[in-house]
Amino acid sequence: MKGEALAELKPLCRKAAADSAVLLRNYNDFLPLKEGEKTAIFGRAGYEYTKCGTGSGGNVNVRKSASVAEGFKENGVNTVDAELEKLYLDWIKEHPYDNGKEGQFASEPRIQEELRLSEEDITKAAKRNDKALIFIARRAGEEKEVLDAPGSFRLTSEEKRLIGLVTKDFMHVGIVFNTSHIMDMSWTDDAWCHGRIDALLCGWTGGTEGGLGLADVILGKVTPSGHLADTVSMRLSDNPADRNFGDAKENFYEEDIYVGYRYFETFNPKAVLYPFGFGLSYTDFALDGLKVEDKNGIRVSGTVKNTGNYPGAQVVQVYFSAPKGKLGRPDRELIGFKKTAVLAPGEEEKVCICFSENDMAAYDDSGATGNKSCYVLESGEYRFFAGFDVRSARVVPLSGRKKKYELTETKVVKTCEEAMAPTERFIRLKATENGPVYENVPLSATDLGKRIEERLPKPLKKGKKCTFRDVVEGNAKVEDLVSNLADHELMSLVRGEGTDTPYVTPGTASAFGGLTPELREAGIPIACCADGPSGIHMKKGLYATQIPSAVSLACTWDTDLVCELYKGIAKEMEEDDIDVLLGPGMNIHRHPLCGRNFEYFSEDPFLTGKMAAATVKTLYECKKEGVIKHFCVNSQETGRFNENNVVSERALREIYLKGFEIAVKEGGASAVMTSYNMVNGHHTSAYYDLTETILRKEWGFKGMVMTDWWARLNDVVKGGFEHNLKDVRSMVRAHNDIYMVVDPGTAGTNERGDNLETSLEEGTLTRAELEQCAIHILGFMLKLPVANR
Ligand code: BGC
Repeated sequence: MKGEALAELKPLCRKAAADSAVLLRNYNDFLPLKEGEKTAIFGRAGYEYTKCGTGSGGNVNVRKSASVAEGFKENGVNTVDAELEKLYLDWIKEHPYDNGKEGQFASEPRIQEELRLSEEDITKAAKRNDKALIFIARRAGEEKEVLDAPGSFRLTSEEKRLIGLVTKDFMHVGIVFNTSHIMDMSWTDDAWCHGRIDALLCGWTGGTEGGLGLADVILGKVTPSGHLADTVSMRLSDNPADRNFGDAKENFYEEDIYVGYRYFETFNPKAVLYPFGFGLSYTDFALDGLKVEDKNGIRVSGTVKNTGNYPGAQVVQVYFSAPKGKLGRPDRELIGFKKTAVLAPGEEEKVCICFSENDMAAYDDSGATGNKSCYVLESGEYRFFAGFDVRSARVVPLSGRKKKYELTETKVVKTCEEAMAPTERFIRLKATENGPVYENVPLSATDLGKRIEERLPKPLKKGKKCTFRDVVEGNAKVEDLVSNLADHELMSLVRGEGTDTPYVTPGTASAFGGLTPELREAGIPIACCADGPSGIHMKKGLYATQIPSAVSLACTWDTDLVCELYKGIAKEMEEDDIDVLLGPGMNIHRHPLCGRNFEYFSEDPFLTGKMAAATVKTLYECKKEGVIKHFCVNSQETGRFNENNVVSERALREIYLKGFEIAVKEGGASAVMTSYNMVNGHHTSAYYDLTETILRKEWGFKGMVMTDWWARLNDVVKGGFEHNLKDVRSMVRAHNDIYMVVDPGTAGTNERGDNLETSLEEGTLTRAELEQCAIHILGFMLKLPVANR
C-alpha cells in the first residue's frame, strides 16, 4: 500500500537482523538463555531499540520498531524481570526518546539519557534473577562523527557505574551493543567488571525488526551466524589510519593499501581484540576436505559440518597471500566467501569458492615491476587460506601434482593509464620480506587539461525529430532526441531539483528529467529519487520499512538474503512511485570513528563490492535502480564538504574504488553518486579521471552519474581548495552528468546562477559535452519505471 511498510518484508528483516548479530564472547555458555532462566534487562535500549544511525542513511519514517524485551514476549518467553521492566518503561514515558530538533538535520544525540538505578534496585534484581543483560546504545552518522569520547566511542561514567554494580551483584552478565558503530571494547576484562562479563553480542542497528531479531538470537530461536565486517582493535590508536584521520582540511593516506585486517594481520596481529570475519556460534563446526584446484580458474572447496548441538549456519572465508615482491602485499586478502544454509546437528554442506588468478593482481603505480599503470601478478608463491575468520583461516593444500601455486615470471593482467594519482608529496607504508618500510608515493605525471581537451566528445549530427516515447518504443535513438534539444534545454536537464519537489512523491530527495515545460513537451518524464541505504525516506506520515543498516547486512555475509530484502524494497518503491534508490552506500571503513560507517559495509573492498552488487542487481531485476555512493573516499564526516584525501593511485584502485568496480562490472550498476569530499585535490563532483577515465573508459560504465546534494565544485583541471556551488561547467566537463540539487522550479531558470550558459558562450564548454550528459541521463531514464508511467 502507498506510504505503508510492506508487511511481507517484516519476517525477512527480522531474520536479517538476527543473522547480522555477531557473538564475540560466550563464556559459560551464557547464551542462549535457557528455558526458565530469569533475566534482568538493564539499559533503556533493552526496552527501546535504536533502529538506525543518523542522517539520510537512517532517515525512514516507521510506525513502530520493536524492542528486545518485546521480542521475548513475542517468543512466548516471560522471564524478563517485570519489576525492572516497569521501572524502565515508566521512566521512559517521562523521558521519551530524543530524536533531535524537529527540522534540524542530524540533531539526534549520540546517546540517550539513561535511568540511574539505585544500588539497592540492582542488588534486589540480582536476587530475583539468574542472569543480567546490559544494553548499550549509540548513534552516529551523517554530519555526526563518532567521537573518541564518553557517550560515543567510549562508555560514560554512568554506564561504567551500572556495569560495575551489575557485575558486582550478578554472577553472569552479558553486554549487548545496539550501536550504529563499533565501540571501545577494551574494558570488558577490567577489574571493575569483576570478571563476570560472560557474553558480548554486537546487535548493530537492525531496523524496525531489529529488536525482535536480537531477541531471537538471545533466546536461541536463531543461532548467531554473523561475522565481523571490520577488525576490532585493542585501542583506537592501533588503527593504521589513526594519525592521519579527522583533519577537517586534508588527510594523507600513509597506511596506503594496509586498511583494517590488511594492516593488522601483516604488521600488528597482537593489537587485535577480534579479528576481521570473526563471529561465534552456539554450535560447533568442522571444515574438512579442503583443497585448491587449479582448473578453469582457482577452486577452493571443502565440507562444513555442524558438529555441535544447535542448528546453525557458518561462513567460509577464503583469503590469499601473494609474494611481497617489489610492490609489497598484505599477508591476507579476502577473495571469496560462502554462507552455508542452516545445518542441523550432524548435517554437512559442501562449499566451493571459485575465482580467477587475475583477481589476485596488484596495481603497479610506481613502475617498480617494470609495468607502470598495470595490474600485475608478481612472480613467487601464492597461498590460499580458508576458515571462519581471517586469523584462524588455515592453509589449503593444492590438489594434484603441483606442490605450490607459483608463478615463475611476473604477469601483466591488465594495462591501464595513470589516473587520479596524487600531486602532493607524502610517504606510504609498504610490506616487504624484511618487515614494514615507508616509501615515497609516486606522483601524477598526467596533464589532465590536455587529456580532457584531446578527448572532448564530438557534437551529435542532427537526428530525426522525435519524442521520448518514440525512443522508449524503439522508433528513435536517444541521440536523435538529444540532438534536437536546444542548448538551454540541455542545461535544464543536467540540473536535478530537490528536495521535496511537487512533481514526485512528497518528501523524497530529488526529481530529474522533464523539469521544464519544453522538456516535457519532448515527452521527457520526471523521475523520482529517494534515500536511501536502509529504506525509503518520504514525507512525514508516509511510512516505509527500515531494513538493517549496511554494516549489519555485511555481517550476515549473505548476499542471497540481501537480494531478498531488496526485492521487498523494490516493491515499496513501486507502490510509492520511486524510480531510483539513493543507495547502497559503499565507502570503505577506513577508521572506526567515521560517522557514516553504519551506512557502508566494511573495511574490505571485496565484501563491500559483493554486497553492493547484490543490491543493485536485485533492484535492476525488479525494474528499479540503485545509486552506488559516495564515489569515492568518503572516509569521514569531519570537514565533509571540502576535506581533501591524499591517496596513492594504488590504494585508490585496490581499496577505495575496488568495491565500486565490482558493483559496476558484476552488479551492472547504472547510477553513481559522487561524494562531497576531495580526492587528490579534486572535488569528486568534477573529477574527470574518476568519472570518465576510470569509471566509463576503463570499467565500461554505461549509466548516469550524479553529484551529492548541493555538492561543492572546483576547477576540473586545477582542482584546489577554492570551491563553489556554481562551477557546473567543471562538473559537465568531468562527465558527471547531473547536479543535485537546485531549488524546486529552478532547473530551467538557473536561479542559483551556475556558469553553464556563460561557459558555453565563452567556449570553455562545448554543446557536445552537454549532449553527452543528456545521453547518459535519458539513456538511464529509459530503464526506469517512469519511462512507462
Ligand atoms: C547525502 C546523500 C543523500 C543525499 C540526499 C546527502 O546529504 O550525503 O547520501 O543521498 O543527501 O538525501
